[in-house]
Amino acid sequence: MSKKKDFFSKYNYSILIPAQPKCIHFKECGGCSFQNYEYASQLNLKKEFLQNLFKKEIKLTPSPEQYAYRNKMDFVYAFGNLGLREKGNYKKVIEIRECQMMPSFAQEVYAKIYSSLQKYNVESYDYIEHKGFLRYISFRYSNKTKQIMLIFNSTTPDDVQNTKLENIFEEIKSLVTSIYWFQYDGLTDIPVPNIKPVKIIGTETIEETIGDKIYLISPWSFFQVNVDVAKEVFERIKENVSGNCIDLCCGVGAITIYVENKTTSIIGIEQVSQAIELANKNRILNKKTKPLFFVADMKDLLQFAPLEIDTLIIDPPRAGLQKKVCERILKSSPKKIIYMSCNPKTQKMDLDYLSKEYELVSLEGFDMFPQTPHLETLAILTRKED
Ligand SMILES: C[S@@+](CC[C@H](N)C(=O)[O-])C[C@H]1O[C@@H](n2cnc3c(N)ncnc32)[C@H](O)[C@@H]1O
Repeated sequence: MSKKKDFFSKYNYSILIPAQPKCIHFKECGGCSFQNYEYASQLNLKKEFLQNLFKKEIKLTPSPEQYAYRNKMDFVYAFGNLGLREKGNYKKVIEIRECQMMPSFAQEVYAKIYSSLQKYNVESYDYIEHKGFLRYISFRYSNKTKQIMLIFNSTTPDDVQNTKLENIFEEIKSLVTSIYWFQYDGLTDIPVPNIKPVKIIGTETIEETIGDKIYLISPWSFFQVNVDVAKEVFERIKENVSGNCIDLCCGVGAITIYVENKTTSIIGIEQVSQAIELANKNRILNKKTKPLFFVADMKDLLQFAPLEIDTLIIDPPRAGLQKKVCERILKSSPKKIIYMSCNPKTQKMDLDYLSKEYELVSLEGFDMFPQTPHLETLAILTRKED
């Protein structure tokens, strides 16, 4: 309970109604800490949290799927176990046999890999002592297209470990669309390093969809994890955009492309160059000519805003915009700001800063992450003199 309290601080835990968790690993795994509460009561708690934070009545849209909604999972292979980290203990990895956040077609591939690692006795990594071989196996997949990308991250292998992993690739390659192999000897503990892969089997990207839009995704680019809920949020953004727009922190252009037909012009800005490469491909894939994409830091917004911006869409990482970017936004003075966030607390701080010149006209919650304390919010602000 202590971790949940950290997130929701002083809120009313008595509204949570106990339920039977679906997952056999619920007690030890740090993944989905709300599984032992009825979904309706999870929503009530999240709604109360938002209403207390923003001091107003807030609508919270539930997720159509309460399990198996994720399109991305990063599994650690350490200390002999393939799985996820123990609740509250970074140093221990829980052996995961099944994950209720994954749909069955992805779980089947996970089960095959799990048994192959045992069959070949592939050496795992020790991230405390920094020795060993295979560090992470990440999954990216689409419930709609059923394409699966696997990302293996290991240290540089000796001949024995090399042959073992190659054998596994042979056994699983017909089950998936794409396999990447990264070899990374650095100390930083990350599932997908920002380096060139030593091997790619199959395609370099897989296709995911939101509504009727198709998006190519790769190991390095961010993508919304729950596409059904993302569609609800994107629809709301689309209802509210108009004129000349900037989509700040655009990733692979998911929102940019989704809303472009409601705009006069639209520019997507993103700091990860691989994401912008895909944004351009996604623009072509979806037969759009309007969006223009640029690799840049959000701090450099003013370079892209010499003329009046009608709508500024922002979807920053969990840390939010912080004072510097808020200042630049105030200077660029868009008529309307549409702010999507996966961290209501940093969003609230940013909205307080922007409130010097902007009025909050609506704020909604979307349950992008059922069975966890997290949620998505969408704020719409208009310039005060308008
Ligand atoms: C929450 S994701 C949103 C992506 C996109 N809007 C979408 O719906 O797929 C945040 C994005 O911001 C990007 N980002 C993080 N820091 C940034 C910065 N300082 N400048 C520009 N983009 C940044 C990340 O790479 C990531 O793609």
